[in-house]
Amino acid sequence: MTIKVRAFINACRHRGMQVANGEGCARSFSCPYHAWTYDLDGSLKGVPGADGFPGLDLAANGLAEVAAWESGGLVYVMQEAQPGSPLPITVYDFFTPDQVLFHQSKTEDSANWKLLTETLLEGYHIKSLHRESFFPYGFDNTNIVENFGENSRVIYPFKRIEKLRSVERDQRDISGMATLVYLLFPNVSIAVLSKHTSVTIIEPISPTKTHMVSYHIKHRDTEDTVITLDDARRDLDFVNQSGQAEDREAARAIQETVTTRANSHLTFGYYEKAIVAFHQQLHHLLGEQE
Ligand SMILES: [Fe+2]
Repeated sequence: MTIKVRAFINACRHRGMQVANGEGCARSFSCPYHAWTYDLDGSLKGVPGADGFPGLDLAANGLAEVAAWESGGLVYVMQEAQPGSPLPITVYDFFTPDQVLFHQSKTEDSANWKLLTETLLEGYHIKSLHRESFFPYGFDNTNIVENFGENSRVIYPFKRIEKLRSVERDQRDISGMATLVYLLFPNVSIAVLSKHTSVTIIEPISPTKTHMVSYHIKHRDTEDTVITLDDARRDLDFVNQSGQAEDREAARAIQETVTTRANSHLTFGYYEKAIVAFHQQLHHLLGEQE
């Protein structure tokens, strides 16, 4: 089965009402205001009381389409690109069709989206903030921090990576030996954990409120290891209930100090270079001075 991904601006062509809400599966979109109805390809197919709109060209009044692509299990939407044009960026295929989406979650925090994003991008706080959660399994401030253009990746090794010392260098595989956190600039994080991968979209609702929507996908089995859904769920519960909760709490606490006069600027060290790159990109795109 070929799946075609499409994206539209959620606005009825009649008077601008939103035609879809929330999530789910639909065979068409019917505007709740006056019931103008659109097909899944965006075309306008029904106008109640059409006599009242003489000369209305249905073909010219489909939903406004924006460019969308699916690649490696992720959907990319770009408002500036032409629908139907090739994907204009190089992407890494994170997923294969045999992988299972086993959970979806949402959180809302009273913190700016950038503060929440920053918690993902350095391991300098593993021992201090995550003393009881991540630190027993990992190392403090021992990470590989890499920038790739606008994007970055931070690798957090587990203590068990020590086992690879006895493996020939060219035979080493770090799968299950480290957490890899990718930031797809500006607001998507992909965390490759032991048994599953989490894709999180960090959505600002206001300067002081943020929604995070996460999708959790089980790793595929390897030749010698079967990963069950229970394994993946346990992995997820551990991360969500311990380390991630600590990170979110830190972001909320910082939010309460950023509007005070305590800090005219915040300070970042070499360990935090993925955060520095993140802010530089934002400054650049917003046309601000460094
Ligand atoms: Fe953290």
